[in-house]
Amino acid sequence: METAFQFEEIEGPIGLVTFDIPGEKVNTLSLRVVEQLCGLVDQLAQRTDLQGLLFRSGKPGQFIAGANLHELEAFAYATVEQATVAVEAGHRLFDRISELPFPTVALIDGNCMGGGTELSLAFDERVASDSSATRIAFPETNVGLIPAWGGTQRMPRYIGLHYGIEMVCTGAPIPIDRAIRLGLVFDAVPSDKLNEIGKQRIEALRNGETWLKRRELFQQPLGLTEDQFNFAFAAAEGQLLAKTKGQYPAPMAALKAMKKGLNRPLEEGLRIEREVAREMFGSEISANLIGIFFMNNQLARDSGVATADVKTRSVERVGVIGAGLMGAGIATAHARSGIPSRIVDVDNDRLADGMRRAANVVESRIRIGRATPDDLKLLLGMLSTSTSLELMSDCDLVVEAIVENEDIKKQTYAELAPVLQDGAILASNTSTISITRMAKSVPHPDRFLGMHFFNPVDRMALVEVIRGENTSDETVATVVALAKRIRKTPIVVNDCAGFLVNRILLPYMNEALVLVQEGVPIDVIDKVATKFGMPMGPIALHDLVGLDTVYFAGKVLLEAYSDRAVLAPLLKELVDAGRMGKKSGSGFRKFVGKKSRPSPDPEFDKILQRYVDGKSELTNKQIELRLFLPMLLEATRVLEEEIVREPADIDMGMILGVGFPSFRGGILRWCDTVGADQILNWLEPFEALGPRFLPTQMLLDQAKQGTRFYPRPDPLELNGVA
Ligand code: NAI
Repeated sequence: METAFQFEEIEGPIGLVTFDIPGEKVNTLSLRVVEQLCGLVDQLAQRTDLQGLLFRSGKPGQFIAGANLHELEAFAYATVEQATVAVEAGHRLFDRISELPFPTVALIDGNCMGGGTELSLAFDERVASDSSATRIAFPETNVGLIPAWGGTQRMPRYIGLHYGIEMVCTGAPIPIDRAIRLGLVFDAVPSDKLNEIGKQRIEALRNGETWLKRRELFQQPLGLTEDQFNFAFAAAEGQLLAKTKGQYPAPMAALKAMKKGLNRPLEEGLRIEREVAREMFGSEISANLIGIFFMNNQLARDSGVATADVKTRSVERVGVIGAGLMGAGIATAHARSGIPSRIVDVDNDRLADGMRRAANVVESRIRIGRATPDDLKLLLGMLSTSTSLELMSDCDLVVEAIVENEDIKKQTYAELAPVLQDGAILASNTSTISITRMAKSVPHPDRFLGMHFFNPVDRMALVEVIRGENTSDETVATVVALAKRIRKTPIVVNDCAGFLVNRILLPYMNEALVLVQEGVPIDVIDKVATKFGMPMGPIALHDLVGLDTVYFAGKVLLEAYSDRAVLAPLLKELVDAGRMGKKSGSGFRKFVGKKSRPSPDPEFDKILQRYVDGKSELTNKQIELRLFLPMLLEATRVLEEEIVREPADIDMGMILGVGFPSFRGGILRWCDTVGADQILNWLEPFEALGPRFLPTQMLLDQAKQGTRFYPRPDPLELNGVA
């Protein structure tokens, strides 16, 4: 590997090290890079003639993005020895930097993440650029690891226990003004002044001679009383447990390293950190979370189509038909990103209601300090409404979000056709109607597609972009680019019943109902699902989404996949009885009080009695498998039918669309973790329940060939490590 570090001497003489990995967009700390820097620091340690050392990145606006994640991913499959070598390499380097015989200053411009932050902590001082792109953070716990190159021990010694715990355990960047106030950063200055201020700081440090005393002090225990210590950690542990539900071990491990190490000398603290880090390496959870990071990056770069040079149309104005729950949300999402949006509805009251809900989105953000009254003015200025479709005449793209009725939708498209300008794209937000079929009723099927948002639009990042048989690449790429512009994550899906997320979710929802009919208590089903990591159980989800909505969607899927789909009669009976879930006050549970909290409902029990005779003997594990195996099988069918292009589309779709637990990395990564052969073993006893439990060819092949959805990272990444 070419050298990533340039050394020069500037006036003083002061050493100036510039970190710039050739050919890479960002600087990351791979083990090779750490090794190179270690060699350079060893040489510098001999240079007693130097007055000081400045360290900067050669990539403008990009300091250090952190450790090399490809390498970290490979570490999930590394031996303890390899992990130990990697952890110790960083510690050795940062110890040596912190012992250099002259004052040292890191100049931070742009992202300073994880290992980059730890590197900067080994310097005597840090000066940051005042650019909004400069962010200092420890994102390690978000990928299932802890800051293991001294971060858990050095950071709280700089900024105190409270903020130290916050930074290390949440992964959130520290605001620069706070970093300055707490002494982590000396100052924030324009990036072109960094060198100059850095030189001044070295001079000031030398003159004051306090840098040596500070180094000595830094080696000492944090020195908090036992009460202060116990109080801070008890509070943090409580908060973290509530947030992670014990499913994300990394923040707790980081806390453990701090708790055990901070009231001891730095050297001992660092040793403790290394021990805790070793326990964290090699975890499947970490590999899954890193996998999600890569999948997200991949989606952010994806144009949505295979052709490399496809052009996108410019979208200046967006129209939305239907000011209901979804339409108002969709218009608001565009308007908040500065895209003028016009809303048409047949009903004036619905238009007024839609505008009120648009305002609510920003008002609630103003209340928590995330938006200003100016943002509200800007939003309202971007929105216009009418009961006439004429308002759509200057729109480049129109999203239809009216009632879920194919005839009414087609009728609306016919009325819209003469109004739309040349080249305009028409998208439907339908959740169940075939895009290819509806395309037959529009004049330009190449410019027609599905743009399926999720409820509530302001909080759900996912947008399914559904290609009909004749949708053009240009149309797909334009809508994918637009979805990214409004800060959503688009996933391109070929047309099929249920599209991506509902198609995979519904078999799980239906299986929950079959289990209820077999006598499994609804609370048990929900508990098993939340223990698996779902944000709520399938029964609670029925009540939230609306039993009528699930019933309707279920019928569409039953028709399309009649070879295997089931529809529990219990659901129809509840819908017929007017029990639609939370919105009607009762469903599987009843919703009482001001906050509409769910509570057991004897009326439901009476209805249930007609279906259930006796108690189910199923264990919790069997219930878990009954719920999630149909979900997995459907996911493999989606891949077999090439409804999406990548396993990552499915996993990200389920994580973003229904909150599938990210520590499992998605439904297909769950399968990889367990292994296809084990999945086949689990399926076997359930096969008698019907074809919905029959293994798919894809799983049979994987079990036979020992393959996975995601190939394991190349062990070559670890070559040279232990
Ligand atoms: P909604 O009932 O809240 O709103 C529909 C709106 O369309 C009403 O304001 C109605 O007055 C208006 N409308 C009806 N016919 C019209 C016409 N011919 N021209 C103009 N406006 C007309 O319905 P919602 O929930 O917003 O659903 C809209 C679409 O979004 C449906 O296709 C639905 O399947 C889909 N969808 C719904 C989701 C949900 O969670 N509610 C999630 C994703 C998609």
